[in-house]
Amino acid sequence: MYSSKIAGIGHYVPQQVVTNNDLSRYMDTTDEWVQERTGIKERRYGLRHKETTTTMAVEAAKIAIERAGIDKNELDFIIFATLSPDYYFPGCGVLLQRALGISGNTCGALDIRNQCSGFIYALSVADQFIRTGMYKNILVVGSEMHSMGLDFSTRGRNVTVIFGDGAGVAVLQASDREGSGVLTTKLHADGTHAEMLSFISPGCHGGYHDEDKEKFGFPDDEYGGLFITQKMIDDHLTYPFMDGQFVFKMAVQKFPEVINEALESVGLKKEDINMLIPHQANLRISQFVQRVLGLRDDQVWNNIQKYGNTTAASIPIALSEAWEAGKIKEGDLVCLAAFGSGFTWGSALIRW
Ligand code: UT7
Repeated sequence: MYSSKIAGIGHYVPQQVVTNNDLSRYMDTTDEWVQERTGIKERRYGLRHKETTTTMAVEAAKIAIERAGIDKNELDFIIFATLSPDYYFPGCGVLLQRALGISGNTCGALDIRNQCSGFIYALSVADQFIRTGMYKNILVVGSEMHSMGLDFSTRGRNVTVIFGDGAGVAVLQASDREGSGVLTTKLHADGTHAEMLSFISPGCHGGYHDEDKEKFGFPDDEYGGLFITQKMIDDHLTYPFMDGQFVFKMAVQKFPEVINEALESVGLKKEDINMLIPHQANLRISQFVQRVLGLRDDQVWNNIQKYGNTTAASIPIALSEAWEAGKIKEGDLVCLAAFGSGFTWGSALIRW
């Protein structure tokens, strides 16, 4: 059996900086409210008509491939995690493959839709392919263009102020060094509260519940054309929804739980962690997790202040930044953890 290591990591964030004060021109919010509740000062938005989830991933992927020291045609597989794909289908994996100019005869592509935990799910899938010897080099991608799908009226303020755009990419590579690389990944899901953090329209739910039929404007006696209705648009149902307090309470419970589960499974302790890279959901959540684990400030990488929550991209962007800053060295134990929509959550331990 092989193990898998991160051979190269890169990230890309758009040039356009959007501050909390910029947002207060569109909605009833303040810099003070956003900073106090989330820690976010600013975020990046991609350029309309120029940048997409895929184009940002291309930039990050080029850096990761170069740092891994491989040719793009040595990639065996692409796993692309996003909740904001360029198209409903096909997925961004094939668009990235095309944009990078990788031969389709040798490289498969898979999209993962697991929102905030998407990168950890993608990493775990890639790790299994490498452990079994099926693939040697896999591009693991998290990229999001949230700014295209947010409600900039006051109605959407609790969600809109949080999210930003960006991409992070890792090259996961087969290694025969025992006891290094990805030590373990833990994945969980509980669909009981699926709609508590969701973006359900447009979609193929077709007014599943009677009350929804009225809410979404689905006629009973027609086929087709129900994926998106005028009523959905008029009623602002084509935007994300979040019960923030409910999600917050679940997150602070699940983050420490899934980190401890990973540590215990490989016989390590929280004191062994050199660098924690939490999904950047809310600075208050990260600070809570840091306290529970008893980690110092320099053992946790947070960048939500600059980028907001970039969902599937947040962990690889933070990992790339921490690595660039020289905060992750060979032999370090790096812990990744995420919780989000689904609910899905997970963790990974990597011996660098
Ligand atoms: O990455 C995926 C996982 N996501 C998360 O983990 C997010 C977890 N949740 C959170 O981070 C927080 O719940 C939020 C930051 C989203 C919201 O903070 P909160 O302290 O839970 O606020 P709230 O939703 O309970 O709202 C409190 C008040 C409300 O006003 P009233 O009803 O008390 O008058 C909101 O309407 O704050 C109001 N509010 C805002 N005010 C100014 C909500 N959003 C804003 C805003 N600016 N942007």
